[in-house]
Formats: sequence, structure tokens, C-alpha cells
Amino acid sequence: MTDASQWIGPVGDVWAAEWQRTDRSFAGLAPHLNAAAIQAVAGIPAPHILDIGCGAGATSLALARALPRAEVTGIDLSPGLVAIATERAAGIANLSFAQGPVETLVAGQAPVDLFVSRHGVMFFPDPVAAFAALRSAAAPRGRLVFSCFRSVALNLWASEIQAEIFGTPPPPSPAYVPGPFAFADPDRVRAVLTEAGWQAVEAVPVDFSYRAGQGDDAVADALSFFSRIGPSAPVLRAAAPMERAAMIGRITAVLERHRSGDVVDFPAAAWLWSAHNPSGEAQ
Ligand SMILES: C[S@@+](CC[C@H](N)C(=O)[O-])C[C@H]1O[C@@H](n2cnc3c(N)ncnc32)[C@H](O)[C@@H]1O
Repeated sequence: MTDASQWIGPVGDVWAAEWQRTDRSFAGLAPHLNAAAIQAVAGIPAPHILDIGCGAGATSLALARALPRAEVTGIDLSPGLVAIATERAAGIANLSFAQGPVETLVAGQAPVDLFVSRHGVMFFPDPVAAFAALRSAAAPRGRLVFSCFRSVALNLWASEIQAEIFGTPPPPSPAYVPGPFAFADPDRVRAVLTEAGWQAVEAVPVDFSYRAGQGDDAVADALSFFSRIGPSAPVLRAAAPMERAAMIGRITAVLERHRSGDVVDFPAAAWLWSAHNPSGEAQ
């Protein structure tokens, strides 16, 4: 579970401190998402694009640079991440950022031609209400394109590390619980988007390499990354010293198995979703 208060507070602060390594972990996915986003606004001369849960701004920056006539806005809950994103965007005239819950701020952004998100949509407390609010601010035929993780089992960077910490991995929750894997079930996501009024809802699977570590000591780099980010981080922090040392030994063995030269890469699996606002339903 990762809720809004955690993103506004400690989890957002860690992501802000670690933005280079989180960007690196998504680098194999980003070209797929960015290409889908650019394709979605082809033919719109000066599209208004809104990056949901923009974090440190990688997707917003990539789209603002690729589409100089677009107006790109990134919105995120975390003040620390919005500060990093704003710093990175210095001098880019068609890009701005705002801090707060996108489901509230979006009304002031209408009409939006494209909503895009790299893994920023799985944390809404009420996903149907949030996606309905987004749709209300969409232009007629406005588009939605976002990525999210597929199952934990297909994301070895999570499942193998969790197995070392918890033993048997915990089963997926039958109820919606905001968090990194909350949108793993495509039936759930399709139902949410459809109930929120989006149409032509489609998902394609994307497999990519999740870079956990690199450099002279790539395993140490990956270990320090997973001590700060992801499902293992809070467990390692809370463990007693001896238990923590044992966990670190087991996690290090996993990282060694995935090291190749100066990188530690894990198989990872995402969904790339797309949908349309029905025509003529802009606010
Ligand atoms: C997994 S991070 C992804 C960040 C960024 N998109 C990236 O690819 O690096 C999820 C982001 O969504 C943001 N977020 C979660 N719920 C949000 C909401 N309701 N409104 C705005 N941002 C939100 C978090 O603060 C966090 O930065």
C-alpha cells in the first residue's frame, strides 16, 4: 500500500533523492510509453498534454522536447519531486509543473488532449472517481495513455527480492489497494476505465529490462537502491540488525544472479494502456 500521505511525505522524498536511479530503472520502458504518447497526439497542431503523477518529470521533459509546439503540464503530489522536475525543466518554455492531487487540479487544466502517465495512476484512493475527473477535463476524443506494472510474478525485481524477505510471496489482494501492483489485473483496470466513461480501452504488454544497479560494484549499487526504493525498503529498515544482515545476504545472492558485467538487470513487465474520451463530451 502506498497512499497519498506517503507520496506527499517520506516516499516522495526518497524518490526525489533517488530520481536518477528511478529514471534508470524505467529507461527500458520509457521509449514505448513516449512513442505511444507522441502517436496519440499526431495530427493535433499544439496539443495540451498532462503528465499524471509526473514524479521528477522524465516523461514530461521527453514529450516537451519531442513536441515543441505542445504545452506540457506535469502534476504530482510530492513537493520534493515537483521541485526536482521544475529544476530539470529550466529554460524549457512549453513545460510547467504543479503540486497536488491531479484528480482535483485537473479541472483547471481543461481541455486536455492527452493524459499520459508512467506508473503514476495506481495510487488513487478512488480510481473510478479519479479517472472520471480526468475524463471530464479531456478534450473531445482526448486520449489517455499510461503504463503500470503487470503481476509481481512477472516482475522478477520484486518477486525474487520479496521471496527472500517474506518466504512465499504474499498473494495479490482481491480488493483494490493503492500501490505499485494495484493495476496488475487488466480486467480490473478495464472495468475502472469503462465505468469512468473512457472508451476504446486497450492494453498491450511490454517486457523490459529493469536496471537495478550499474557501475564498478553494480551489486552494491542495486542493494543500496533496493534499501531505499520498492517493497524491500520498509522491511529492511524495520528489521532488527541480525535479521537485516541475513536478509541482505540473501538479497545480495539474488542480485549476483542478475549481474552481467557492470550492470544488474531484472526482467520486468508492464501494461501500456490507451483509451479515448468519447467525442463531444468535453466540459
Ligand atoms: C511510481 S511514481 C512514478 C513517478 C514518475 N511518473 C516516473 O515515472 O518516474 C508515482 C508518482 O505518482 C504520484 N502520485 C500518486 N498519486 C497521485 C495523485 N493523486 N496526484 C498526483 N500525483 C500522484 C506520486 O507522488 C509519485 O511521484
